Amino acid sequence: MVKTVLNTYKINLSKNRRPVPTLDSFNKIIDLLNKKKINLNDFIALEFFAREGDWHTIAYSNIVKELYAWEIDSQFIKNLKKNLPNAIIENGNSFELSRRKKYKNYFDLIVIDNPQNVFNGYCEHFDAIERVNFLLKDKGIVIFNINVRPYNLKENILWNRRRIDYYKNTSKILNLKFIYNFYKNKFNEFNFNVIDIFHQKRHENFLFYLVLILEKK
Ligand SMILES: C[S@@+](CC[C@H](N)C(=O)[O-])C[C@H]1O[C@@H](n2cnc3c(N)ncnc32)[C@H](O)[C@@H]1O
Repeated sequence: MVKTVLNTYKINLSKNRRPVPTLDSFNKIIDLLNKKKINLNDFIALEFFAREGDWHTIAYSNIVKELYAWEIDSQFIKNLKKNLPNAIIENGNSFELSRRKKYKNYFDLIVIDNPQNVFNGYCEHFDAIERVNFLLKDKGIVIFNINVRPYNLKENILWNRRRIDYYKNTSKILNLKFIYNFYKNKFNEFNFNVIDIFHQKRHENFLFYLVLILEKK
């Protein structure tokens, strides 16, 4: 069933849109989850940083039961509505929206497609994943971007400082073993057991998605 929906959607996309490489990467995540017998059809999903939704959200928007999409910049909302006609869209600061009582333990899937660098005082996914404990159900999946080889750190002094402070690691290049250990420990600290963890490359060679399947302790 999931496969059928996905394949139909791929066909529609190829007719109407130019190919988006991020979409391919995200489709691979969905395939991997399917292989692990995880069916997204019953999931309530949140796209924490939605933009216009066409970089990857459209890969799963027709598969999940309900989709929430949050975006701070009003210039993206018109196309976001067009790209995700079935989603519940909020134009606001996701960090503030994520504090609404209604969303406590509400989502099965949280996707954090964070901007790189430091933005409005937040850095990469560092602050956003702090909201997962509040937002996720007792069991669920979180997906976010990992930058293993950040660019122009000499010019981006604040970004560099935030990364060193966060990872406690001065190396410019982070290896996968380090990343897996770091985030397993991090989510343990957030009161989750990490049932599974895997990554999926994006088209930029410095960036990949990290996928964690979590269960509250
Ligand atoms: C990488 S893009 C997201 C792309 C999107 N996930 C997709 O599938 O097309 C990151 C977005 O996060 C938005 N953003 C940055 N800070 C935000 C905040 N505090 N609250 C909500 N959205 C924010 C930016 O405006 C930008 O559109």
